[in-house]
Order: sequence, then C-alpha cells, then structure tokens
Amino acid sequence: KKTVFSGVQPSGALTIGNYIGAIKRWVPLQDDYNCYYCVVDQHAITVPQEPKNLRKNTLDILALLMACGINPEKSTLFIQSHAPEHAELAWVLNTITYMGQLNRMTQFKDKSKKSEENLNAALFTYPVLMAADILLYQTDLVPVGQDQKQHLELARDLAERFNNRYSDTFKVPDPLIGEFGARIMSLQDPSVKMSKSDSDENGFILILDDQAAIRRKIKRAVTDSIGEVSYNDEQPGIKNLLNIYSSFSGEGIDTIVEKYRGRGYGDFKKDLEEIVVEGLSPIQEKFKTIRNDKTYLEEIYKKGAQKASNEARKTLRKVYKKIGFIPR
Ligand code: TYM
Repeated sequence: KKTVFSGVQPSGALTIGNYIGAIKRWVPLQDDYNCYYCVVDQHAITVPQEPKNLRKNTLDILALLMACGINPEKSTLFIQSHAPEHAELAWVLNTITYMGQLNRMTQFKDKSKKSEENLNAALFTYPVLMAADILLYQTDLVPVGQDQKQHLELARDLAERFNNRYSDTFKVPDPLIGEFGARIMSLQDPSVKMSKSDSDENGFILILDDQAAIRRKIKRAVTDSIGEVSYNDEQPGIKNLLNIYSSFSGEGIDTIVEKYRGRGYGDFKKDLEEIVVEGLSPIQEKFKTIRNDKTYLEEIYKKGAQKASNEARKTLRKVYKKIGFIPR
C-alpha cells in the first residue's frame, strides 16, 4: 500500500477552503492508502498562540477531522508534538537547506510582511519542519491545496539532496492537488485566497458556521455585473462560487452552468446556500458528539501518536546512522 501524509494547523477554526482543498479529499484516500493525518501544533506556534486557545483548537481540529470523515480505524490520526521525530528530523534537514531557498518561499514573504515585529526563526524554517513531517513516513502522496505547492517542492528537493549526499533514504513525495477547488478564494475579494485570518469575516465560511451566517455570507458574496453564470477568469467571484457549488453537490461545473443558463445570480446563490448548509450540517452534528467525548478523543490521539512515532523512528534511525551519529 502506498502512503499518504497531510497536515492541518490548529490555528483557529477551519474554513470551507481547508475542507474543499484538503480534508474532503483526504477521506476517500483512506480506502486505498496507508494514511497519516496530523494536527500540526508545532507549525501553529510559529505565530503567537494563547496556550489556552491552542489546547482547545488542537482538540477541536481532531474532532472536526473525524466529523469530516477521517476514520481513526483506517488512518493514523495524531498530534505533531506527540511524535518527537518531527522536530528531530527537521533539525537534520535544516543543515542541508539553503537560506536562499527559504527566502524564496512566498508564504514566508507574505507572513513576514504582516508580522514584522515577530519575525522569528521558526517562521523562516517552517517549510523544513513540513518536509520532515512528510519524509519521516516515506510518503508517496501529499494531498494539499495550491498554497502548499512550493513547500512540497522543497520537501522533494531536500529528499533528493539527502539521498544524493548519503544514499537512498527518503521516498520523494508527489503533491496531490485537485483540478478544481485547490484554491478557494475570499467571498469578498476573489483575487485573494479564502483564509480564516481575513479581517473581514464575510470573506470566509467556517465549517462550524451556523446556518444564518452561511446564508448571509453567500448572499453578500461579491459577483459581477455580467449576470450570466459562467466559468471563466473574467468572472472570478462566480467562478469561485461554482467551485464551491461543485465540491458540495458533486455535480460537474458544466452541468451546473447548464442548469442556470438564462437565470440570474439570485437563483444560483439561493441554491448554493441550501447545498452548503446541507453539506455542513451533518459534519457539525458529528463534531458536537465527538468533541464532547474527551475520553474517546484522548484514546484516539494516544493510539495515533504511538503508531506514528513507531513508524517515524525507523526513518530517523536510518538518517542518524547515515550522517554519523552514534546509536544509543
Ligand atoms: P493549513 O493549515 O494552512 O491548511 C490546511 C490545508 O488546507 C488547504 N487550504 C486551502 N485549500 C483551498 N483553498 C483555500 N483557500 C485553502 N486554504 C487552505 C491547504 O493547502 C492545506 O492543504 N503547512 C500546512 C500544514 C502542514 C502540512 C504538512 C501539509 C504541515 N505539515 C505536511 C501537508 C503535509 C498548512 O499550513 O496548512
């Protein structure tokens, strides 16, 4: 069986961008692959976190992943800091990563512009920790949204560099990025990515948003004055809503466009409201049940940590041996 690895940061509630671009696509992979899904708390602390919130968010995300269909009987579901190998391998990979490579990371450039007073070293080496996450499990495929593509290229590059310098050690992972929905845009500005850190909360829909909020945000979503539901770059707002519609309804873009031919945006948006509300409500129900069962959650993440750490240790041992560390 081939191996899949992916992660999500516990830095607040998740948006339907996270869902459509990543988590929803993780679910069917569980049937055919050996999957590792990780709540990356060590990544989250690269920006300041209130400890109390981080604790809450980490458990929220775990419960939410299960509510979205990640099945801990099939997949290894765990918390990054519970497998110390991640930080350990990241340290080694730091030694073969060029400063110039990290300087070119667009996400770092964006984030450093926003937080000049907290430009910490971990924010800079963040993609190296992400490479460690992936390479520890000899991962074949990494299902992510478009914004992670550059980080994936670094992971591939580091795997190849290490393999060339020492000898074959790491599998070189491939990104798995969807053709549609890999970049869900802000509902208020379809030229920027939908993000939970958007200061305008009408720009994003959270997986846990209530019905009223979902409906309001879709009603207010920015469109255009063309007035025809069509999938093209001149209508980025409608294009984005079509991607959301298609992901939640399972219908192809062409089918949807055909359905609304000659009808206005009002009808289209009203149906989209229904589809999103109906798509999210079972997830929200399941979330409540799972999140309230602390003992169950704890059981899951402990089991996950053990499995993950056992697997990761195998790769780390090889790495240590090759670079000349004395085994203890
Ligand atoms: P994070 O937590 O920002 O996002 C989790 C996943 O959601 C995707 N995503 C989107 N997809 C489509 N449209 C959007 N608007 C949108 N916003 C977010 C992201 O691409 C991602 O797949 N560095 C990663 C977490 C990570 C990771 C890893 C991922 C750490 N280690 C190893 C894969 C493998 C991150 O910050 O994702």
